[in-house]
Amino acid sequence: MVASLWLSWQDQVSLSASGGEAIVTGPDARIVLKPLAPEIFAAMQRLAPPGADEEQLAESILAAGTVDSLARWYYHVDQLRQRGLICRSLHADGRPLATLFPFCRAVPQSSRAALGSTSPETNRPAATDAGRGPCETASRRYVLSRFAYVRREQDELVLESPLAHARVIVHDARLMALLGALAAPKTLTELTQCADGLAPGLARGDSRAFLTLLREANMIDQFAPDASGSSREANSPADPALESWEFHDLLFHSRSRRGRSDNPFGGTFRMAHRPPPPALKAIVEQESYELYRPDIRQLEQADPPLAHVQERRRSLRQYAAQPLTARQLGEFLYRVARVKAQWQAQSPTAAGTQLMEFASRPYPAGGGLYELEFNVAIKACQGLAPGLYHYDPRRHCLERLAEMTRPVELLLDDAAASAGIAGESLQVLVILTARFERIAWKYESIAYALTLKHVGVVYQTMYLAATAMNLAPCALGCGDSDLFARAARTNYYVESSVGEFLLGSRVSEVLT
Ligand SMILES: Cc1cc2nc3c(=O)[nH]c(=O)nc-3n(C[C@H](O)[C@H](O)[C@H](O)COP(=O)(O)O)c2cc1C
Repeated sequence: MVASLWLSWQDQVSLSASGGEAIVTGPDARIVLKPLAPEIFAAMQRLAPPGADEEQLAESILAAGTVDSLARWYYHVDQLRQRGLICRSLHADGRPLATLFPFCRAVPQSSRAALGSTSPETNRPAATDAGRGPCETASRRYVLSRFAYVRREQDELVLESPLAHARVIVHDARLMALLGALAAPKTLTELTQCADGLAPGLARGDSRAFLTLLREANMIDQFAPDASGSSREANSPADPALESWEFHDLLFHSRSRRGRSDNPFGGTFRMAHRPPPPALKAIVEQESYELYRPDIRQLEQADPPLAHVQERRRSLRQYAAQPLTARQLGEFLYRVARVKAQWQAQSPTAAGTQLMEFASRPYPAGGGLYELEFNVAIKACQGLAPGLYHYDPRRHCLERLAEMTRPVELLLDDAAASAGIAGESLQVLVILTARFERIAWKYESIAYALTLKHVGVVYQTMYLAATAMNLAPCALGCGDSDLFARAARTNYYVESSVGEFLLGSRVSEVLT
């Protein structure tokens, strides 16, 4: 049997009628449709899951009403689709092969073309999106968007894309063979031929219907021949703005901001089934070096004014012959990263109230969680032996993690290369790591994005402290997280490096 496209209500959507109007209510949207002809209301009643065949719905409306009723139906379906209230699925032999679930939020205007929007003149869907599948222009070719990807969620295969306001659940694994065939551009005929070989059991029309579903989810690029006969892109990739976006950047952006995701956002305490991670990293018994504690009151009096520091802040990559001292490093870390206060507070979570520990620092951090750790790789610092250290912000001391091992040397070499300077000239490399669980315990969808924001906050705090202290600071854009995990013997998934910053003695100029 050939697959057909079905329409059904999205999860948690209900239909009611009152005084000639129909009211469709979903978790995030409510729409009143009026005036509503009885044949259209009857069709809507058939959308209760598993729904009904789109073509049969259209035929029943035409049989009971007029061509105008059909135009009105398409218009309403389009309205409902734009608000994420309707699912479209590919059905064969009484079961779904794939279902497109729109996110339950209003779809912005710019994405409507991809979701089968109605033509303004006729209120009918544009020809290629009418549910009858892509145009069979023999030479038109289709290819999977470079932004589309497949992953497993529970025991289902999910197709997603940061260009989509929907996800496609693939219920029948034979469709994966069709996806594979779409790795390179194909005409509909070529795709159908591939399907015959790769996915026995799928009928000829199935590739076409699956393609329609993928196009609706904005997961297909089309190429049409131009006058010279060569192919050119015919839909979304023609948007030159997309060229700037690498796959991972657009995915991270779209999933850590509201709009293109229906995941819960913000402080949901999603890991509240586990005890809250501690405010501070546990102290491991190892060599530690107490650091100099400056008198903050005295610094408040003696420091150059903020505007002066801001104006003179620069990235400096040259150092004085004499390396910075352990006392300067102590003052720097005290100004930037020490624990200022510690307390406990109750946090309301879905798993009940949880007692959490907090430890504040001189810089701001989302939720006051302070998941960042400060590590220091020392090449040259008067009073401290070379090697890798972890800064304990509560005791204000350095704990030695490693001597100048090969991985520590490589971390320093990488940093020197990033700054375009000779490795021998380096003095101190501050490596920020994140204890991911501390922030992921509370924040959903945005945990890693918050961590990167915190890195920026700390960079500027370090720039300002170093400038006020007449030291040479320079932020770095990248580091090797695997290498750090090896050097410090941390578990990459528990704590890995997220930021690097160079520090050294300044060649000249004393701020007054
Ligand atoms: C997030 C970030 C990443 C940076 N990455 C590097 C880097 O990898 N190498 C480097 O030499 N400078 C790096 N810099 C320093 C910039 O080059 C510098 O801030 C910029 O040129 C402006 O100069 P200024 O800091 O002296 O005002 C970085 C700065 C920031 C904020």
